[in-house]
Amino acid sequence: MAPVNDPSSFSALSKCITRHLNLRFHVDFDSRVIKGKVALTVEILEDKYASLILDTKDLKISKVTANGQEAKFSLGPQHSFKGSPLEISLPFELSRGQHVIIEVTYETSPKASALQWLTPEQTAGKKHPYLFSQCQATHCRTMVPCQDTPSVKHTYYAQVSVPKELVALMSAVRDGQEPDPQDSSRSVFRFRQPVPMPSYLIAIVVGALESREIGPRSRVWSEKELVDLGAYEFAETEAMLKIAEDLAGPYVWGQYDLLVLPPSFPYGGMENPCLTFATPTLLAGDRSLSNVIAHEISHSWTGNLVTNKTWEHFWLNEGHTVYLERMIGSRLVSEQFRQFKAIGGWKELQESVKTFGANNPLTNLVPNLTEVDTDEAFSSVPYEKGFAFLYHLEELMGGPEVFMGFVKSYIQMFAYSSATTEDWKNYLYTYFKDKVDILNKVDWDGWMHTPGMPPVKPQYDTTLADACIALCQKWIKAKEADLKSFSEADIKQLSSHQVIEFLALLLLENPIPLSHVKRMQEVYNLNAIKNSEIKLRWLRVCVRAKWEEAVPLALKMATEQGRMKFTRPLFREVYNFEKYREEAVNTFLKHKSGMHPVTAMLTAKDLKLDQAKSTGL
Ligand code: BES
Ligand code: ZN
Repeated sequence: MAPVNDPSSFSALSKCITRHLNLRFHVDFDSRVIKGKVALTVEILEDKYASLILDTKDLKISKVTANGQEAKFSLGPQHSFKGSPLEISLPFELSRGQHVIIEVTYETSPKASALQWLTPEQTAGKKHPYLFSQCQATHCRTMVPCQDTPSVKHTYYAQVSVPKELVALMSAVRDGQEPDPQDSSRSVFRFRQPVPMPSYLIAIVVGALESREIGPRSRVWSEKELVDLGAYEFAETEAMLKIAEDLAGPYVWGQYDLLVLPPSFPYGGMENPCLTFATPTLLAGDRSLSNVIAHEISHSWTGNLVTNKTWEHFWLNEGHTVYLERMIGSRLVSEQFRQFKAIGGWKELQESVKTFGANNPLTNLVPNLTEVDTDEAFSSVPYEKGFAFLYHLEELMGGPEVFMGFVKSYIQMFAYSSATTEDWKNYLYTYFKDKVDILNKVDWDGWMHTPGMPPVKPQYDTTLADACIALCQKWIKAKEADLKSFSEADIKQLSSHQVIEFLALLLLENPIPLSHVKRMQEVYNLNAIKNSEIKLRWLRVCVRAKWEEAVPLALKMATEQGRMKFTRPLFREVYNFEKYREEAVNTFLKHKSGMHPVTAMLTAKDLKLDQAKSTGL
């Protein structure tokens, strides 16, 4: 396979591959710094090799050695989001096939974008500080100097020293714990990850953590206040793992644990190997948001075992993962449920295309990310255009059974390596060699390299969506005099998934009149609903209808949790309500210092507060 350039990394072009990392972390909560030492085992791929480049961002490098000999190094100029290349001159020359051990001694910055340091007040227990990482997509370089590109895979071993009241966990198998021989007030936790994985899957959490077993290979971890809630909410984990294994092949990572994070965790879930990170906003109390767990479980195959070679091929990770997630939904609930979720996904895609603009090249399935910050490119497009593409192919190739056969075989073919869209497409043609005529009719360019909505709209079964569509239409068409006809009974028969869908449909329409929203509250009492996905959409509907009483509720939800999928649209919605624009901005500024660094950065952009920075002033 031809070498691929990774536009998001400085190290990708170098003719070497990291095979293993040996990490030593000293976590210092007082200075909000990790003092680190990393030994990279690097395989050399060309002759007369004498220098290498690693990615770093906001790191203080104090020493570099190569096979124990001190090596000269320099940090290149700082790029706004890529960071600085660390150029290391080896004190000797190497040839193709040789290995070298590069050891870097360094410190992270308190503003490292991979890390959020929480005060005790920001935790559930209020007594101890807390630290968590989020490396995807390009933040690992703020925590570890490395080849921060998903085209490179390596194993790792880690030793982490933390205050002895706290527990450290990583995206790896736990390998023991002992008092820190250098400091009796601390403990050392050890971890091993024997399966090769990309740098973005390195993860760490340190806090007052406890756990409970929820299955033969699974525990739920969180502060003690949330352990039981988590154990209830995620009780289907083993059943989902079994279905996923049946669909995709053996689970190779050994343990599958879940960690429920504090509310500022910026994503719904993150597929860190052996330990999925999850937002506490999934704790609905009725397992209704467990599709996120099915999704993260699915990444154990698509993403973690088969990895996108660069972030331009992110849809290979997320599109296939959504495809598997919905297959699990089909087996666990019903095929109609899968179809219903697919309809919801199409609507998410419409929303994203609307937000970005239908001509925006970032709405391409395979975007060009040269000089593009991956955090800013992030959207539902790779998820939902990716899913729709796979579903379209499923329809053409003969249905779910047939197409799952391909997906399983694709996983086997590229397991333990990284793939591009081209690799995927070539393999699709190989697998369906008897159906090349059909494949040749696919509008590849329209699907993969054209902005906006896809060239074909797949057909989905609308059985479960019909009630949502009907209720939405009834509200849109209602005149003042019709408002009496609505009653609690309208949504009594709907599942929480259907209520989400009903509100999502309303959001795609023009805002409904204030009188309608008030009546909706009167009959459905949606203000009382705790389910975070319902609450998000309901508050957006209210603010869009300019219901002033909803503004404080929207800002409350935007700040008391920090999942970007919720926080960013809520802030944006209030910002667009002219009268409360200043309040949105002030609320953000008040909370900014306690927010996750990436959430704070992106919300500032949403609220147009980064003008000075973007114009270079
Ligand atoms: N890997 C993603 C989260 C992510 C993507 C973090 C890109 C950073 C950069 C994760 O698997 C994900 O997609 N989470 C979704 C779940 C949903 C699609 C079911 C989320 O966070 O909402
Ligand atoms: Zn995902």
